[in-house]
Amino acid sequence: MDSILVTGNGPLNGQIPIAGAKNACLTLMPATLLSEEPLTLTNAPRLSDIKTMTALLQSLGAEVSSLQDGQVLAMSSHDLTSQTADYEIVRKMRASNLVLGPLLARFGKAVVSLPGGCAIGARPMDLHIEGLEALGAEIELKDGYLHAKAPGGLKGAVHEMRFASVGATENIVMAATLAKGTTVLKNAAREPEIVDLVECLRKMGAQISGEGTSTIEIQGVDRLHGATHQVVTDRIELGTYMLAPAMCGGEVELLGGRMSLVESFAAKLDAAGVHVEETLNGLKVARKNGRVNAVDVVTEPFPGFPTDLQAQMMALMCTAEGTSVLEERIFENRFMHAPELVRMGANIEVHGGTATVTGVERLKGAPVMATDLRASVSLILAGMAAEGETTVSRVYHLDRGYEHVVRKLEGVGAKIERIKDQ
Ligand code: EPZ
Repeated sequence: MDSILVTGNGPLNGQIPIAGAKNACLTLMPATLLSEEPLTLTNAPRLSDIKTMTALLQSLGAEVSSLQDGQVLAMSSHDLTSQTADYEIVRKMRASNLVLGPLLARFGKAVVSLPGGCAIGARPMDLHIEGLEALGAEIELKDGYLHAKAPGGLKGAVHEMRFASVGATENIVMAATLAKGTTVLKNAAREPEIVDLVECLRKMGAQISGEGTSTIEIQGVDRLHGATHQVVTDRIELGTYMLAPAMCGGEVELLGGRMSLVESFAAKLDAAGVHVEETLNGLKVARKNGRVNAVDVVTEPFPGFPTDLQAQMMALMCTAEGTSVLEERIFENRFMHAPELVRMGANIEVHGGTATVTGVERLKGAPVMATDLRASVSLILAGMAAEGETTVSRVYHLDRGYEHVVRKLEGVGAKIERIKDQ
């Protein structure tokens, strides 16, 4: 398994291009199953998760062509041969469960493996099931697979989710586009990736309103047609790289970044003493003074502080002036980066869903291990600001969500290289 070697190397300067959003692309790709006409995505990120979703769609008989070095995905599900999403693929990536709603809507049946747990939590699918059953689906669990059917087709309904689940919102909205009648989804998730999905579905002929709010209304239509859609900028990659100058000093411009994607995060950075300015080409970020100050963080559904930036923010708080309390309210086990940061000299105490970080002057490089996608990059950020060398192992986690991370960080002056496994 490859590792990343990073050495603390002082202030950063320059520009980092931000890619298309992994979590938008992973729901836009299954949308191709809703129509027999081609769906083409541009600005797609080059990530292993995209390759996994490609393999899943191809296993169903869809055609997926990756063009222009992976930035364009030309897809067609005109001739599907299967409606079964196999455990071997689903266990690798939970987002595989996003084929459930589209398959049910178009074919009236789907067999999708339960994803199983992952490092950050149990990640059940009860909210997906409740929503699809509200649309008339019959779903039963057998041998670890969800067997779903809607022989007479799905019917629109009014449904309120117990929690604003991103994935459940995506599955229910996609299913409702082809249901008979009107669906009103209440307590819907408001993430920008859902707004992006709805904009794509609308280009395909779906009748939807309310995206980005807690109530989304969908008028079912008989069929959807093909479309071409540009994937929205990745707000989590954006936020991650905003922390690089915050931790190392200097000034970095994140190309393609927009304040609207990271408002609550940028507000937290401002309170910590990091200046974020929207420019013509993106977001420019620089520390206001030498050392940031500690701020408290609570992760919440959008527009609150994103759980996918919690690990990275913890890395920043490790060298802040004062004590920061980070509360993780979305996932039950998302502090696995904490013990690794402690190995670098951080002062962190974890009690259940709360981590208390007392800032130290400077971290010290050390060998550490990536445990999940966002933890991996928080360790790299910490290593860039630490004294000496840090080796981050198990970087396959990184490849799931960050394209060309070494090249992007090298480009602004980081001392970083990928060590190929011997
Ligand atoms: C999406 O996961 C993202 N993944 C996650 O990003 C992100 O952390 C998460 O939303 C929250 O923003 C993709 O979009 C591919 P949820 P998802 O359903 O849809 C519980 C990353 O790093 N829950 O909003 O799975 C669940 O266990 C990844 O890019 C149920 O209890 O998130 C969790 O505690 C990690 N029952 C909470 O809700 C359900 O049926 C949030 O889950 C569904 C979810």
